[in-house]
This record gives sequence, C-alpha cells and structure tokens, in this order.
Amino acid sequence: TRPLKVALLGCGVVGSEVARIMTAHADDLTARIGAPAELAGIAVRRPDRVRAGIPRELITTDATALVKRGDIDVVVEVIGGIEPARTLITTAFQHGASVVSANKALLAEDGVTLHAAAEQHGADLYFEAAVAGAIPLVRPLRESLVGDKVNRVLGIVNGTTNFILDRMDTGGTGYSEALDEAMALGYAEADPTADVEGFDAAAKAAILAGIAFHTRVRLDDVHREGITEVTAGDMASARRMGRTVKLLAICERAEDGRSVTARVHPAMIPLDHPLASVREAYNAVFVEAEAAGRLMFYGPGAGGAPTASAVLGDLVAVCRNKLNGARGPGESAYSRLAVSPMGEV
Ligand code: HSE
Repeated sequence: TRPLKVALLGCGVVGSEVARIMTAHADDLTARIGAPAELAGIAVRRPDRVRAGIPRELITTDATALVKRGDIDVVVEVIGGIEPARTLITTAFQHGASVVSANKALLAEDGVTLHAAAEQHGADLYFEAAVAGAIPLVRPLRESLVGDKVNRVLGIVNGTTNFILDRMDTGGTGYSEALDEAMALGYAEADPTADVEGFDAAAKAAILAGIAFHTRVRLDDVHREGITEVTAGDMASARRMGRTVKLLAICERAEDGRSVTARVHPAMIPLDHPLASVREAYNAVFVEAEAAGRLMFYGPGAGGAPTASAVLGDLVAVCRNKLNGARGPGESAYSRLAVSPMGEV
C-alpha cells in the first residue's frame, strides 16, 4: 500500500510532539493504519524557533503551498487562532485532504464553515484534541453516545485555570506566579488571556454543546466569566466552608427540550465532590445521558504530549478511513434547539 502523506501546520508545543511521536512510533502507526503515515512537510512561521530533532528538510514557511500540493492525504492543524487556520483548512479540503485539528477557537467561532467544507469534499474533520487534551471526549460524544440522549455536560475543561486555582488553594501560590508556571509548562494558550478570562473554556463548551445536543452553539452563545476576579481571600473562605473554587463549563438541555444553555464561570465545589480533587492541569467532565446515566471523563487536559496523543488518535482514524474509502462522523443533523441565555445555576 502507498504511504499516506501528512502535512503538519504548526510546530509548537503540540506540533513538535506530534512530529516526534510520528517518527518514534512510525512502525506501530504503520501497523495500526495498514500503511505508513509519512510527514510530507511542516509549515511554521518562525523556522529559527523550531525545536531540535524536527527534520529540517521538511520545514517550510509556505503553509498555503503545502496544503495545495495535491498529494497530501491528511492535514494536521495545530497553529490555533482563526486566520490563517480557517483558510488553510478549507483549502486543504478543496485539495483532497482530510483534516485533524486541535483548534477550539476556530471550531467554536466558525465550525459551520469547516464542517460544510468537509461535507462538500467528502472529507473527514476530526478534532479530539480541541477539547480536554488527552481525554477522549469528542469521539465518545460523536460516536459512542450518539444513540443516546445527552442532557448535560459539566466539568473542568481548562488546564491552565485549574492549575492556577489549585496552586492558589493548596500551595498558597499567588495568581501571577501560578500563571507564569502554567505558561512555562506549556499549558497556557499563546495569549493566556484566553485561559484566565474563560474564552478557551467557553470555546470548548460551545464545541461540546454542539456535538452533545446536535445543535449549533457558537462562542458568543456561551455565558463567560473567567478567574481573574478570584482572590486568595475567596479561596480561603471557600476552604473554611469545606469548599474549593473551580472554573466550570456547564452545557445543559432545558427541561422543555427546546433549548440549550452553555456557560463558564467559577463555582464553589464541596471538597468531597469528585471535581474538587482534580489537580494541576487535569480536566474532568461529567456527561449525563438518558440511557447511559452519569459518565465521568478524567485525565491530563493540557500540555504538548497529552494533546499530541489526541491528535495521533485522530490521525490514525482519518488515515484508516482514507485507506478504506470510508468517512468518519460528519456534522450531526441539526435539531432546531435554540440557544438560551444563561439558565439557572
Ligand atoms: N490552554 C489550554 C488549557 C490548552 O489550559 O486547557 C488545552 O486546550
């Protein structure tokens, strides 16, 4: 069988791990896919910043030319942000590639355009890495639970803010010191405002609500409050009440079944609640479905290697589909659920 050609867009914290694992585990990946998956090119903005160990001959600064080559089977997009990511992804579909993306901001802002382009070209769009790092959550919602009726998705979906709140609560570390640490560990976004102001969690809430309830939810539909107003004093008084503070994302189907709400805000959690024991940059999400009952997903929610794990899982799935002439789940047929303003807490 012919090798599958993979173009990598972005080679930062996540991209460099993807490239490393693709090389280090090449034989295993070949065995699982049924054909070799070869890195055909790596597009970066700043070649001088590319980490050691990444094959130099694959580096290019011309991402557009790379996705237009015509022989690329899968484009892995880990550059983040709206543009040029959106144009590159749609161009990739036009040139016959399927796409694996970790881009929560773009999926939440304009998932409609991406899904429509995938549909139009009969391609796959997989995005497990966009939500909750290594934790399988997107595929369980899109595939395993698709026969059930999900009523609620609730949990911690931002590693950086969980890390900061955890350090403030249990380590007595100050807010900015904890943020610096989260940035140094590669958890935070390029602009950490997205983390601490709740935009990153809100984007993930929009994606989760969309796939859980088969409806369209955009970033703007999500009520959002970050952690910048949470003080050491707040943490201490929560402790005295046997509670801790966590940044929660809550997506719910309204009781009338006609609308959904999605919101992100800090919340007091009793110390004996499972979410209270989520430490560092871990994430944890409860999914409540009619037949399944209550499921909990837990694991590393941020960082290069955990996020790369999710990207590689998608890469294998998309490569298998390519080889078999199959397609993974497309966009769910949308029910006409309205997105309500914030519901009751
Ligand atoms: N900045 C994100 C977080 C990265 O801290 O959760 C993972 O999406």
